[in-house]
Amino acid sequence: PSAVERAVAAFRRGEPVLVHDAADREGETDIVYPAGAVDADAVVRLRADAGGLICTAVSHEVADAIELPFLEDELDHPASADHDLAYDDRSSFSLPVNHRETFTGITDDDRALTIRRLADVADAVADANEDYDAEDFAAEFRTPGHVHVLRGAPDLLDDRRGHTELGLALADAAGLPPAVVVCEMLDAETGGARTPTDALDYARRHDLVYVEGADVIGQLG
Ligand code: 5RP
Ligand code: ZN
Ligand code: ZN
Ligand code: CA
Repeated sequence: PSAVERAVAAFRRGEPVLVHDAADREGETDIVYPAGAVDADAVVRLRADAGGLICTAVSHEVADAIELPFLEDELDHPASADHDLAYDDRSSFSLPVNHRETFTGITDDDRALTIRRLADVADAVADANEDYDAEDFAAEFRTPGHVHVLRGAPDLLDDRRGHTELGLALADAAGLPPAVVVCEMLDAETGGARTPTDALDYARRHDLVYVEGADVIGQLG
């Protein structure tokens, strides 16, 4: 099986996969989990072995249903006027949230709870029989919080090719709810992005699948 097929199968089993976007984009490898599979041990792996920002990406449809905006559309501060990202047209950031049953929101247990409940929300919204809306979301979550929600582009990989969309495409192919956790792998010594060679080495040592964004786009886009 191809790396993409192995990544989809790993996702189905609730295992994380490593996704490198592209050398001419961020040039980052994220550890990516199906959100429903995240427990406190997974948060430990993300903060200790990846070390970047722990975010939960949800599909455009889910974000629309619960009225989660793009953060840049909500901010009215001069710093948000010019989005001069060097690697893409726009960021996928929405609001940072905490589940209301968390205490500070940052502990491994708290972040795992918020993330798993976000997966449940994605599942509920995708289920045509449940009408879960912004009020339901507000009854369960508060913002600001410690888990950054990201919004997938409407046409996913046809629209944008970030880890947000690459991860959501893997979840879709695996038949899982449209919610995935992404976190950049940083080099503990240099603080820079881990090189693809280094990320691949981590994947081998931990028996995880490593995929190139171009292959995900080629096979699932
Ligand atoms: C948030 C980010 C990450 O790169 C994450 O992978 C999501 O962004 P994108 O979809 O642009 O790759 O910057 O920590
Ligand atoms: Zn990224
Ligand atoms: Zn990044
Ligand atoms: Ca397509």
